[in-house]
Parts: sequence; structure tokens; C-alpha cells
Amino acid sequence: MAIRGKEIPVDISLDINGRSEPLSVDPGVTLLDALRERLGVTGRRRKAATAASAAPARCTSTVSQCSPALPSLAATVRRPVTTVEGLSTGDELHPVQRAFVDQDALQCGFCTSGQIMSAVAAVREDVSDVREFMSGNLCRCSAYPNIIAAIKQASEQAAADTRRADATV
Ligand code: FES
Repeated sequence: MAIRGKEIPVDISLDINGRSEPLSVDPGVTLLDALRERLGVTGRRRKAATAASAAPARCTSTVSQCSPALPSLAATVRRPVTTVEGLSTGDELHPVQRAFVDQDALQCGFCTSGQIMSAVAAVREDVSDVREFMSGNLCRCSAYPNIIAAIKQASEQAAADTRRADATV
């Protein structure tokens, strides 16, 4: 809400990685800024202003379902948000994180949180064209072959886990 150009903070509660986080934010504050600057959740990256110097990544956090990372306003987010920090369970990496390590799917790591969040969605949705699905995530280190290998590893593990679960029913 704005009165004569002055923003009036609104009280909200964000569900971030399974934790409820009460905040008072200006209505124009993006989810990204709320995560990074208010809650210290820094895995989600801000893409740089120019494509030449940036490693932009879509879907660096998920709001229930993976969706293109439009600049959501924090005050409008009503669903649980998962960031890369919320994927692991204690000391155990998420299978996609494990696959990125196993396949050496990162170099500088700048794009990695976004790549991993998109990869999690790719595995979950069992997408047929992984390269197309991941095409919005740029990696200036060109780790693409290893990223694709990591997604293949995680997809194969997910399929094996599903077969095992079906066999025990
Ligand atoms: Fe360096 Fe992708 S931008 S690992």
C-alpha cells in the first residue's frame, strides 16, 4: 500500500523450507530480496543485468511447483517456498545434489543452486526433453554435459526407487 509515494509495510508470513517466517515488508519487496536480505537464505541468486556477464537461472526456488522465476512479490506468496537450502535432510544430500557432486556438475558454482532446483523439477516431472527444460539456466562455465549427466543419474535413481516401492506393495 502506498500513501503519497510512501510504502506502508505489511505483515506477512512466508513458509520457507518448512519454517514459518513472519516478516514486515514493503509491498514492493520481491521474494528474492526477502529471502536474501531479510532471511539470510542466499542460495537463490539474483541474475546480473547483462546476459554477457551473467549466469541467469530460472526457477531458483520453487513455490509449491516449479515455475519460471518471475519477480514474485513477497507479499503475494501464499504457498510454501523451497530453496536449495531446503532440499537436503540433515547431513544427507538430496539425490539431485548427490548426482551433481558425483557427476562433477559445477565449476564456479554460481549457477548451481538454480540448476539444481530446475533439475529437481525435471526429475519430479519426468520430462522427456531435459535439455529443452533446462535451457533457461545458463552456465558461464559450460558445465552442461555434466549437468545433464547428473540429471540422468538422479532420474535413473528416482525410477529405481519407484520400482522398489512398487515391488514392496
Ligand atoms: Fe560456473 Fe555454472 S556458472 S558452474
